[in-house]
Amino acid sequence: MTTHSPLSAPMIDPFGRAVSYLRVSVTDRCDFRCAYCMSENMTFLPKADLLSLEELDRLCSAFVERGVKKLRITGGEPLVRRDIMTLFRGLSRHLSAGALEELTVTTNGSQLARLAGELADCGVKRINVSLDTLDAEKFRAITRWGALDKVLAGIDAAQAAGLTVKINAVALKDFNEDEFVPMIRWAHGRDMDITFIEVMPLGEIEGQRVDQYLPLRQVEADLAGQFTLDASTHRTGGPARYVTARETGGRIGFITPLTHNFCESCNRVRLTCTGTLFMCLGQEDAVDLRKPLRASESNDALMAAIDRAIAAKPKGHDFIIDRTTRQPAVSRHMSVTGG
Ligand code: 5AD
Ligand code: SF4
Repeated sequence: MTTHSPLSAPMIDPFGRAVSYLRVSVTDRCDFRCAYCMSENMTFLPKADLLSLEELDRLCSAFVERGVKKLRITGGEPLVRRDIMTLFRGLSRHLSAGALEELTVTTNGSQLARLAGELADCGVKRINVSLDTLDAEKFRAITRWGALDKVLAGIDAAQAAGLTVKINAVALKDFNEDEFVPMIRWAHGRDMDITFIEVMPLGEIEGQRVDQYLPLRQVEADLAGQFTLDASTHRTGGPARYVTARETGGRIGFITPLTHNFCESCNRVRLTCTGTLFMCLGQEDAVDLRKPLRASESNDALMAAIDRAIAAKPKGHDFIIDRTTRQPAVSRHMSVTGG
């Protein structure tokens, strides 16, 4: 008799971490060109290499079968992919069935005025909107192509549709440092949590990230002069650590991939729009799922490939940003693997 693990076995990596969170980048394209994320002249993947929306659904569903409880749709900018709502509609069946606990999205907000209502209809409850400044001119400068008023209108639409919005801001030295306090007051005044992210060495860009990098340890110490910060036990299943500002009652999150290694509790893997599974944002290790997906209508080969991938999940990343390390830690941009 042959023994094999059941196709629906949960995914446990060699370090005992259960993988319950899948992030899916549905496109590497974006309608912005944020200076820390992309170069101005990006070469994008040929459209023919992309998984179809049906294939993305099938892959996500396989992961749900294997115990994924939280699914985040990212990019690039996920909401610029044509017919993307078809994917949300399809995936919402796993929410109704109780197999999936959360379906969520990370977006730059540019399409929210149009799509927020439909997202809410699909069972999306919380979304992350990336916003690094509240100054229209600075916003244009950092995103190169974006318009602040459109994003703010998108946030209005999202809240009107009943979505809980969290703001993600990348902390950039000499760019938005002076805005953290007003941004916190603005976000908390609208009932939104706000999370600051350290810039990560992902992909080639024009400038040097050492010139952008701002350690959040310092930011937190400075904020403690403005607010009374209480440690919070709040967790969203992601890597952020939260504090509550007593004056506003709102939460401030810190994502510190550089000053603090959060890999010990990593519960996630990332799928690109071409079907490559990355087991760590900061490592090159990857397994191709497109081939087994396309090889047959049965999921046997796909599940075996997922097992191989989970068995190879690295312990963690070792990002460094300094003057002597000129190369990014990995050559992929965040827009390929998803934020
Ligand atoms: N370092 C840190 N954050 C980044 N983002 C994109 N590129 C980087 C980088 N190199 C952020 C975006 C967005 C989220 C998806 O990731 O601003 O908030
Ligand atoms: Fe687009 Fe987000 Fe990258 Fe900005 S950070 S270019 S919005 S993918």
